[in-house]
Amino acid sequence: MSLQQEIDKRKTFGIISHPDAGKTTLTEKLLLFGGAIQVAGAVKSNKIKKHATSDFMEIERQRGISVATSVMAFEYRDKQINILDTPGHKDFAEDTYRTLTAVDSAIVVIDVAKGVEEQTEKLVKVCRTRSTPMIVFINKLDREGKDGFDLLDDIEVKLGMKACPLSWPIGMGQRFKGVYNIYESKLKLFAAHGKQLEEDTIEISNLDDPILNEMLGEAIADELREEVNTINEIYPKFDQEAYQRGELNPVFFGSAINNFGVKEMLDCFVEIAPSPLPRETEERMVKPDEEKFTGFIFKIHANMDPKHRDRIAFLRVCSGVFKRNVNFYHVRQDKKMKFSNPTMFMASKKNIVDDAYPGDIVGIYDSGNFKIGDSLTEGEEIHFKGIPSFSPEQFRFINNADPMKSKQLNKGINQLMEEGVAQLFTKLDSNRKIIGTVGALQFDVIQHRLEHEYGAKCTYESLAMHKACWVSSESEEALDELKSRRRNNLAIDKDGKLVYLAESAWTLKMAQDNHPDIIFHTSSEF
Ligand code: G4P
Repeated sequence: MSLQQEIDKRKTFGIISHPDAGKTTLTEKLLLFGGAIQVAGAVKSNKIKKHATSDFMEIERQRGISVATSVMAFEYRDKQINILDTPGHKDFAEDTYRTLTAVDSAIVVIDVAKGVEEQTEKLVKVCRTRSTPMIVFINKLDREGKDGFDLLDDIEVKLGMKACPLSWPIGMGQRFKGVYNIYESKLKLFAAHGKQLEEDTIEISNLDDPILNEMLGEAIADELREEVNTINEIYPKFDQEAYQRGELNPVFFGSAINNFGVKEMLDCFVEIAPSPLPRETEERMVKPDEEKFTGFIFKIHANMDPKHRDRIAFLRVCSGVFKRNVNFYHVRQDKKMKFSNPTMFMASKKNIVDDAYPGDIVGIYDSGNFKIGDSLTEGEEIHFKGIPSFSPEQFRFINNADPMKSKQLNKGINQLMEEGVAQLFTKLDSNRKIIGTVGALQFDVIQHRLEHEYGAKCTYESLAMHKACWVSSESEEALDELKSRRRNNLAIDKDGKLVYLAESAWTLKMAQDNHPDIIFHTSSEF
């Protein structure tokens, strides 16, 4: 197969949702269709259960298990589907943001009863800044929920999407009859047997087909006709290019647990979702069909077992062919490296791979060479864009609790930051170190791992902080003024970039007003 054929074959995407909307269930059904798993329930281990939210060891243990499900690949209708798992737990949101840098599209799952929830809003915002094409799946139609049109409004207002319904529900909860597939003009009747039977799908020529009355009863059939007419009047027609540009969002309705409406979405997805797209680097655009290999590391997963401190670095192939045992160039470290055991998870089996193509995710064993965002190439100096850090939400000073072990502590902190567990800021005035995280849980994880993996002890000191903003300016003078007047609020991040630490939204606004020539950014990439 030519490189172009390999590229066209691949669809790499992530599923995002607020916890409990049904991401795990949907993933599992997709894997069942692809033959990647044989029985339902196989993906459950990947989910961090609600009762474990305060037990970080349990969460880390489950995170360990989830390495196996970090990427799941399977073949479906001549396409290779790569699903990237994203942690649902909000304290690991940063992990999810980074994983989303490695996908070409996303599926957003929404609970019909709850509508758009907080975590969905945050994740969709990240996708929207990159114009990632997104399909929406409204789940749990077997339960009572919000009205379909209200949900579409919610999607447009809260998520800033342009909704384009490609299927439409007929009733819900007890009255749920099925969905009308607008995309293919088919009626699909609901049966809670969890199987995808041919006889549940009824071909109809158009909505006036009398079979509709026969199957649904006149009143419901008329209601459906009216609703679909309204949809045709209000919502735009499906346009694949607009979807691929991230400007139009197909919406499907179904029930993942009952395996209902999932196949329709998957069939549509393989047809319309983009294959690996060109990627921006600081130097130039990299096209997937370039002959030379390029790729970047978007996630690092540490082994929880202190006796085996190896890590797995996840590489997204962006162009050319990644090959086993061939020397590649590690741009940041300016050195050549080859990999003897690169792995991919195909049909739930971990395999050593000889070749990987654009869109593929390869796991490489790493003894500490990689950092999130690192590029691998055949010799070219390029740096992939789009792997920014975002402002943490919680901040604490970190102190050394055992002065004899400061070397271990520094090494541990640096390695954990390279893995992306949290962010480190060093204050300009005092050199004190501040750890910033998305959730409180990471503080426990860091403390535990420093002790058990690096033999170092730390304590924390609380710090009332609102946000960390990366600052830039075209005027050196303005930067110098900020440094002299606001030294107490300034720190540098892991890459030496200048960051303004704001105690509150108000102090941030004051700083913006007082320093009009300074731009305050909420992410490290600007
Ligand atoms: P998540 O990964 O997004 O967090 O959600 P997950 O798939 O684990 O689903 C959350 C809960 O919603 C699960 O129930 C799951 O069975 C249920 N669910 C998923 N899809 C549907 C659906 O289409 N209809 C209905 N009625 N429920 C659905 P749970 O009780 O929390 O877990 P479990 O005991 O079933 O594992």
